[in-house]
Amino acid sequence: MIDISDRIRCKELFAKVTSPEEAASFIQPGMNVAASGFTPAGYPKAVPLALAERMKKEHFQINLWTGASVGAELDGELAKVNGLARRIPYQTNDLIRKAINNGSIHYSDLHLSHVAQMARNGFLGGKVDIAVIEACAITEEGHMIATTSMGNSASFVQSAKKVIVEINTSQPVELEGMHDVYTPLDPPRRGIIPITGVRDRIGTAFIPCGPDKICAIVPCDIPDGVRPFSTVDDNSRAMTEHLIRFFRQEVQAGRLPENLLPLQSGVGSVANAVISGLVSSDFQDLMVYTEVIQDGMLDLIDCGKLLFASGTALTPSPEGLNRLKSDIERYRKYIVLRPQEIANNPEVVRRLGLIAMNTAIEADIYGNVNSTHIMGSKMMNGIGGSGDFARNAYLTIFFSASTAKEGEISSVVPMCSHVDHTEHDIDIFITEQGVADLRGLSPKERARVMIENCAHPDYRPQLLDYLERAENKCGYAQTPHILNEALSWHVNFQEKGTMRFK
Ligand code: COA
Repeated sequence: MIDISDRIRCKELFAKVTSPEEAASFIQPGMNVAASGFTPAGYPKAVPLALAERMKKEHFQINLWTGASVGAELDGELAKVNGLARRIPYQTNDLIRKAINNGSIHYSDLHLSHVAQMARNGFLGGKVDIAVIEACAITEEGHMIATTSMGNSASFVQSAKKVIVEINTSQPVELEGMHDVYTPLDPPRRGIIPITGVRDRIGTAFIPCGPDKICAIVPCDIPDGVRPFSTVDDNSRAMTEHLIRFFRQEVQAGRLPENLLPLQSGVGSVANAVISGLVSSDFQDLMVYTEVIQDGMLDLIDCGKLLFASGTALTPSPEGLNRLKSDIERYRKYIVLRPQEIANNPEVVRRLGLIAMNTAIEADIYGNVNSTHIMGSKMMNGIGGSGDFARNAYLTIFFSASTAKEGEISSVVPMCSHVDHTEHDIDIFITEQGVADLRGLSPKERARVMIENCAHPDYRPQLLDYLERAENKCGYAQTPHILNEALSWHVNFQEKGTMRFK
């Protein structure tokens, strides 16, 4: 058995150390199971694997709540055995995506900053029955030191009747001190969240729990299932160059300070490429206030351009994870991990004046953005934190390649097939073609800027033709549409495999 004795500092808890199978037996059919984890970081592994084995024989389902997406040992294995009735609030797993889109999992796609309060107050179909939390240690008082993500762990533990702790020895104990755990009071007692700078610490280094709630402690040594990023492609490179040029113009115009404002950057390869692009730029003394800390931010720390990063999860590539672990004492001086309720909190996002940068599936000519649904129906991942940031940032930027599926889909369309972020939230849209600065423009002005600056040249005449006919038909109304034609591009793709009409 893996030795975790030096990681349990509360001696009375030794008696609760048990096997993953024993711990999983506390989980009963129909329970609301709330797990740590945000991206493939800091999620429990051994207990879900044992639970999936049990589900193969007993055939039952649970409802799974997490911080965001988690690794394959949790989402993938439970989906394989049809063990999930409900999934909340975000996912990126192929099997879960398939099950959501064939109706076998009910999925609530939620703003990530909302989930903790909803869980504490019973909005999500009852309260947390059991929390399963990955920790790197348990303190003398029976509190937990989180690992590579904070997510919703503190609120899940607060609301849970029972807690299973997985002590993961692949997670360095030196992570202790990187977390800042703060849970706001619920209305009407909510006060101000006292963060006025990216580096501020306002909470504890541990997740408050106490020994009595803990029903089982399980040793585990399975590492986070982090994945490599795809290599930076020409589109990502072009979008990064546009962004850096735009930032320079904003600084020159006095609309941004020289070291910019705290940056929020979405997840995935494009987001990582954009942040990495800042490494070779001349911007200095940068700050990051975001969800996920990826390789690009480690690069910025290493080249001395990033003063501090606040996030809720550490999700570098496998190479980045090794880099982080081998020099954790140094990186800890630059990084704080907060609960996602604080990392994504609208009050803090607005106060700090963030630059929010996220990726879209498609945008329409008026600036509405679809981040979640393919062709209006199929769930991709979920809104994640993009809405928390987009609605409240100082400057809201979305990126997308101008086309998808080898050019047969235009990402700039007459009308989005689903809207996650409205025209009221989007300041800047960037594709590899250029930058659409939509600030202060009327819808008809926005449409021309989107078409001219962001749409692929192959689709510009089609879009302009739609816009002009819509204007004529609606008598130049505020937001002209020909409704029976607005989604014909998507219909054309579904029927003929292309959005091109000629
Ligand atoms: N129409 C139809 N399909 C499209 C499309 C469009 N306009 N644009 C992209 N796609 C398809 C791609 O072809 C790809 O399909 P595949 O999986 O069959 O290959 C898929 O959608 C994903 O596209 P890709 O370009 O690989 O996406 P990405 O990795 O850059 O992610 C999002 C883009 C929008 C899916 C992702 O950023 C996301 O989930 N965002 C929402 C959550 C979020 O913003 N989180 C961060 C908040 S802090």
